Amino acid sequence: MKVIVVKNYDEMSKVAANHVADVMKAKPDCVLGLATGDTPIGMYKNLIEMYKNGEIDFSKTTSVNLDEYYPITPDNDQSYRYFMNCNLFDHVNIDKAKTFVPDGQAKDVEAHCKAYEDRIDDLGGVDIQVLGIGRNGHIGFNEPDDELIKGTHLTALTQSTIEANSRFFASEADVPKHALTMGIESVFKARKVIVLASGANKAEAIRAMLKGNISTKCPASLICLHPDAVIICDEAAYSLV
Ligand code: GLP
Repeated sequence: MKVIVVKNYDEMSKVAANHVADVMKAKPDCVLGLATGDTPIGMYKNLIEMYKNGEIDFSKTTSVNLDEYYPITPDNDQSYRYFMNCNLFDHVNIDKAKTFVPDGQAKDVEAHCKAYEDRIDDLGGVDIQVLGIGRNGHIGFNEPDDELIKGTHLTALTQSTIEANSRFFASEADVPKHALTMGIESVFKARKVIVLASGANKAEAIRAMLKGNISTKCPASLICLHPDAVIICDEAAYSLV
């Protein structure tokens, strides 16, 4: 595991975008594992800039996203599909038919989760997986628990995540109580994983991840075991390590 500590959010975003761009340049038909939340927005802005400058090209790229609320419609402005369209896909030359986000309207959830996992395998695995980290150490929507489910699955959000994410919704009651998420094993299929964290409100999660024991009570701590994991965090997020 490699830890890169940078000054602030802008630097974190640039360093993260460079990691993604390096993979795209080396392998134009790469599979990007993408994440949502406030944290990667700056990274996406940098990638859009690089695309506009002709540095990177998304025409052969495929993407798979980590998670999606359930239930939610893709046109809901809080859905992760909507987020990805607004923050990246609508601004670059990616073929939207090759962008995959778990289906927040799936009728047969179990079959959908299996198909999502199969898709990752059929694509030959993710080349670089981008991850944020929840304040409680969650990854995707793998919340702290005694056990973690390996593959893509439906999960209930913890109260702390509902509260944290209610800032995006009209009210806490509007936050979906469930989500579809890749599991930790799905994430581990990626050849490279980058974890981004910025701000003092992530400091405890980063401390638990880097200094605490490996535990399903801090799902992010498991990422430390990945053979090619890079943690990119700013000084505020690193302040308790
Ligand atoms: C959300 C997402 C995660 C994300 C995390 C942190 O619940 N499911 O994928 O990494 O919370 O979000 P943010 O970057 O907005 O702090």
